[in-house]
Order: sequence, then structure tokens, then C-alpha cells
Amino acid sequence: MRTMEDAGPMTRTSGALFVGRQTRWGQAGRDLIAVAVATLTTFLLSATFEVREWMTEVTRPVEHYQMDELPLTFAVLALALAWFSLRRWREAERELRLRVEAQAQLAEREDEHRLLAQKYMLVQEEERRSLARELHDEMGQCLNAIKLDAVSIRNVAQGRDPEVEAGANAIIELSAHVYDVVRSIMQRLRPAALDALGLRDAITDLVGQWSRRNPSVQCRFDATGELNELGEAVNITVYRLVQECLTNIVKHARATHVTVAIERTGDVLRVTVSDDGRGMELGVKRTGLGLLGLRERVEALAGKLELHSVQGNGLQVCAQLPVAAGADASRQPPARSAVAEGEGQER
Ligand SMILES: Nc1ncnc2c1ncn2[C@@H]1O[C@H](COP(=O)(O)OP(=O)(O)OP(=O)(O)O)[C@@H](O)[C@H]1O
Ligand SMILES: [Mg+2]
Repeated sequence: MRTMEDAGPMTRTSGALFVGRQTRWGQAGRDLIAVAVATLTTFLLSATFEVREWMTEVTRPVEHYQMDELPLTFAVLALALAWFSLRRWREAERELRLRVEAQAQLAEREDEHRLLAQKYMLVQEEERRSLARELHDEMGQCLNAIKLDAVSIRNVAQGRDPEVEAGANAIIELSAHVYDVVRSIMQRLRPAALDALGLRDAITDLVGQWSRRNPSVQCRFDATGELNELGEAVNITVYRLVQECLTNIVKHARATHVTVAIERTGDVLRVTVSDDGRGMELGVKRTGLGLLGLRERVEALAGKLELHSVQGNGLQVCAQLPVAAGADASRQPPARSAVAEGEGQER
């Protein structure tokens, strides 16, 4: 069902069409007055100075060229030109109307596309969450059982059969290693900290883990404003954004300092990840999917993603997301927002 908000672009464009039509009629009226004044002035001047009689006198010597037929011919030409321009004007108006309608349809499709993208992200996250649950419940339990059995075998074999004991120890070590791998896959599939701790602490945890893995890079995290109750969609978008940016920094930046900042001011959430690495050339087509996916995620929530970079001087990834006070954005269609338009820019 279309709501008043849905009808926004159409109302705006038809409003603009109405105002445009009014302006056009105003101009046409002024032009018609100019035509009438010019015609009347010509008539009065011709009447005063007897122009036609004078022309007859002047053209009498070349009468055989039928010059006296020219006034009527020109009058017909003027009428024909008026008819011609009227038809072109109507054509232009029809074209304009079609273009305005197409623009309104495009805006509507964009809104639908944004809704679809948001839905797709939520379904993807739900799928990842259930995969992580399956991994935890199935693999986790099996590995634990294998480890317990191996411990029993080792206890029985201890002091009696060194070969069996060594084999059991190897199974214990291997199952612990596989469990660590599964845990890290689960963590990547679904950040458990996000559900357990909330956005602020989940990002603190993410940044902490990242710093431990990359001790040569100094990473600072600042969070200001109310970050609770932002909703599942916003939380997961911010988490994935910080996650991808930190991964990119390790892969591409060669940075020594990184800052992650989340700031909420009223109904706008601003997330910035900056590094002092080698930066990148913006506007160049790339094959990577990370930044592309981030833009999709942010725009699905009617937000805006900007990249600022000077080569050799680091990269700043900045996302602005509209957040309704106290509302769970995952259950709401994204509103068309003041921060919804715009491309990445260079600094
Ligand atoms: N922090 C950064 N510093 C310098 N260059 C960067 C940084 N982040 C991204 N880039 C550049 O932008 C490109 C696109 O990044 P993107 O994350 O989209 O793809 P990717 O990391 O190469 O691959 P993936 O699809 O696995 O994410 C990278 O290949 C890299 O050249
Ligand atoms: Mg990447």
C-alpha cells in the first residue's frame, strides 16, 4: 500500500510540473503582449508614414517581378511559422512530461531497491546466525565428545602403552585446534559479542582482538552518544563496516595509526575509520567486493558512505546513517533521508 511518504517523489515532481506550467504561461502571456505591441506599433507607423503607398512607388519600376505580392506571402509565412512553433512547443511539452514521469518511476524503483537490499542483508545475517548456531551445536559437541574419548583412552593407556598414549594426545591436540578454527569461523559468521554485549562493547572487543593480532599498529576507538537500541540492522552494518575496514587496513594500508570513531548526534550516526597508511586513488574501478558491499549495506539503510584519501596520506571511510530515536530500524522501511545522496569524494 502506498503511504504519503511513498508518494513523496511523485508529489514533488507533479508540484514542480505545476509551478513550471504556471511560469511558462506567465512568460507566454508576456510574449503575446510583446507581439501585440509590436504589431500595433507597426500598423500605427505604417498608417502615419503611408509605408505601403511608399513601397508601391518604390517597387513600381520592378513590377514585373511581382514585388507587390510579397506582403501577403510574408503574412502567410508568419502564420505558418507560428503554427510550426506551436507544434514544436507541444512536442517539447509531451517530452518533458514523459521525462518527469520516468524520473518519478525511477525514484520509486530506487526506494524499492533499497528496501530489497535491506531485506537481503537481514536474511543473509539470519542465515549466518543459524549457520553459526549449527556449527556450535553440531561441530562443537562432536569435537568435545572426540576430545573426551581421547582423554579416556589416554588415561587407560597411561603407563601401559606409550604408542596409544601418544596417539590419544595427538587426537586431543588436534581436536582443540579444530575447535579453535570452528570458533573463529563462528565468530566471523556471527559476532556473538554483538548479541551479548551491544554495539559499543562488541566494537571494543573487535578492536581489541584486532590490536592483539596487529601489535605494530596503534588503534584507538572512540564512541560518543547513545548507542543502545539502534536496532539489529544498524548494529550489524556498523559492525561489518568496522570489521571490513580493519581487514582492509591490514591487507592494503601499511598504517601505523588507526582511529575508529562512532558518534551519534540526534538522529544521525556517524562511523569513521581512518588510517595513516598509503591511501588509495579514488575514482578508479576496482575488483574488490568489500567496499562495494559496505556501500550497499549503508545505502540500504538510507545512509551515505564517503571515502576521503590522498595517496600516501591514509584513507578515511566515513558512513552516516539515519537512526530513528528508540526505534529498531530492522523492522522499519528506510526513510528517504537528507544523508541519502552523494558519492565518495576526494579530500
Ligand atoms: N585502508 C586502505 N588503504 C589503502 N588502500 C585501500 C584501503 N582499503 C581499501 N583499499 C583499496 O581499495 C581496494 C578495494 O577494497 P575492497 O575492500 O573493496 O576489496 P579488497 O579488500 O581488495 O577485496 P575483498 O573483496 O576481499 O574485500 C583494495 O584493493 C585496495 O586497493
Ligand atoms: Mg576488503
